[in-house]
Amino acid sequence: MTKLVFPLLAALLSVAVAAPSAPGWRFDLKAERSGIVALESIVVSPTLVVFFDRASNDPLQINNHSAWGALWDLQTSTVKPLDVLSNSFCASGALLSNGTMVSLLHQNREASLTTSYLHQASVGGDPDGFPGNPDIRPGTQAIRLFEPCASPSGEGCTLFEDPANLHLQEQRWYPSSIRIFDGSLMLVGGIHEDTPFYNTDPALTFEFFPPKESTPRPSEFLKRSLPANLFPRIFALPDGKVFMVANNQSIIYDIEANTERILPDIPNNVRVTNPIDGSAILLPLSPPDYIPEVLVCGGTQTDTVDPSELSSQTPATTQCSRITLTEEGIAKGWEVEHMLEPRIMPELVHLPNGQVLIANGARSGFAAIRHVQDPIGNSNADHPVLVPSLYTPDAPLGQRVSNAGMPSSGIARVYHSSITLTPQGNFLIGGSNPNVNVTVGEGITFPSEFRMQTLDPPFMFVERPKILNTPEKLAFGKSVTVPISLPANLARSDAKVQVSLMDLGFSSHAFHSGARLVFLDAEISRDGTSLTFTTPPNGRVYPPGPATLFLTVDDVTSEGAWVMMGSGNSPPTLE
Ligand SMILES: *[C@@H]1O[C@H](CO)[C@@H](O)[C@H](O)[C@H]1NC(C)=O
Ligand SMILES: *[C@@H]1O[C@H](CO)[C@@H](O)[C@H](O)[C@H]1NC(C)=O
Ligand SMILES: *[C@@H]1O[C@H](CO)[C@@H](O)[C@H](O)[C@H]1NC(C)=O
Ligand SMILES: *[C@@H]1O[C@H](CO)[C@@H](O)[C@H](O)[C@H]1NC(C)=O
Repeated sequence: MTKLVFPLLAALLSVAVAAPSAPGWRFDLKAERSGIVALESIVVSPTLVVFFDRASNDPLQINNHSAWGALWDLQTSTVKPLDVLSNSFCASGALLSNGTMVSLLHQNREASLTTSYLHQASVGGDPDGFPGNPDIRPGTQAIRLFEPCASPSGEGCTLFEDPANLHLQEQRWYPSSIRIFDGSLMLVGGIHEDTPFYNTDPALTFEFFPPKESTPRPSEFLKRSLPANLFPRIFALPDGKVFMVANNQSIIYDIEANTERILPDIPNNVRVTNPIDGSAILLPLSPPDYIPEVLVCGGTQTDTVDPSELSSQTPATTQCSRITLTEEGIAKGWEVEHMLEPRIMPELVHLPNGQVLIANGARSGFAAIRHVQDPIGNSNADHPVLVPSLYTPDAPLGQRVSNAGMPSSGIARVYHSSITLTPQGNFLIGGSNPNVNVTVGEGITFPSEFRMQTLDPPFMFVERPKILNTPEKLAFGKSVTVPISLPANLARSDAKVQVSLMDLGFSSHAFHSGARLVFLDAEISRDGTSLTFTTPPNGRVYPPGPATLFLTVDDVTSEGAWVMMGSGNSPPTLE
């Protein structure tokens, strides 16, 4: 953060202009619906978001059957179907160092819809395919690629699948995946097969895409964190290691040495991974030291995952736990603080100014579909939380969470919902669907939800700074100058200037795989027309790959510029 050297004229103008009444946060309901349940979402270009549902009876059609992949156009708020060959009831994904989006897909013979209410339940697999949908061939767990798409509306852009050649080493449903320091994808945990409520047939390993060796790496951490360890919350740390939290266990994993360092448990018997989903986020990294801190919020305080002892009315926890990943921080352990309300399946999402949005989820119950006692229809969760909060990381303990001025969404976003920060600077929200099939109609408390909303921060309604142009690629450890424009009222010497380099993450199951915010040292020119910033020193601080660059002046954020951090080479790459 640096001070702006102000032009005198602009300063005088800003004094002369009367301050308009401050705009607030707003939910904006889109006219067009998502067409498929936006169970997973990832921004893949400055204007496009990919959604996945599982193969089901979604209303959006392609080739005379229901679609289960879709492209949302952020410019027009419209959707079109994507042709997906294999079932996408997957897990997560990420953008690689060359800008290609990778998502996992599952191809196997699965339990029939009529007998399965399992949270992993999905359709597909001849002869149990969804009526009206094409047969989905049995096979190994494969990988699906979406190559960088130059067309703003997604013309000609589609998924690439080659299950015979592109697949994982181990079957994994409900794993997590992140881009690491060499631009590859690391996959963690998951489960092999259809299962009850929790992880009964675990994949107790890590692997990489592209692979680093011929077999997956066994993990003691994944064993220790059973049975509620699906969707481990994992983060690439600025030294290249990986922090992981699952159930109430946490570690730092050294990829290069293949060693696990055990960290303190999440306090107070709180568990934070599926089906007891809390969420977790790597707080913004700042130069010069990029000291990593992790925040984990929500989940449930419980000793058991036995669904006969749990109910949709079991209260979630208000607890957030925060740890600084230095020797001193680890010795100190987790610091406990609280949200304004209990939340299961909360979402923690970065704002470009370093605050964290806490959204969605419910006050009681669990993730998954119709397993615990007293389900609400098919929902294991009840009492949705409709009002988001903001978490301010550098405020004093006890004063970090606020929902002052936050509107109510009016729409429950519980199991199988997603939310992502967009390059425009607002949040796109879709889902949920705590039902096996598309289920809508009178009297259904938690139907399949197709209404799309954005949550628009106050800066969307005022004149904003603009990044006018950026190089397509940014090299590590370089000083870069780009042209900008500033509204007159922000061209002040005492304005707070922040430049953030962000990975917007892959939203699935209350976690944003790969989401990251790295602040850059930056300065605005004396005349207010250019911005000079220093890129991160290496791919450990920001794994090489696509990034969105935002300029925030006094909490007014520009639209993001889509850049390639690093060479754009295919993984593995160190530049
Ligand atoms: C869809 O169905 C219509 C009517 O049966 C048929 O004419 C058309 O060829 C089909 N399209 C595809 C892509 O299968
Ligand atoms: C899902 O829908 C299909 C097709 O309408 C139906 O055959 C099946 O019984 C449904 N399954 C459940 C669990 O509702
Ligand atoms: C973490 O979970 C284990 C297994 O249930 C339990 O023994 C341990 O006490 C928990 N740790 C804390 C700090 O609650
Ligand atoms: C990106 O890298 C992946 C993994 O090596 C590869 O499959 C894909 O084709 C590459 N995409 C581009 C655009 O080079």
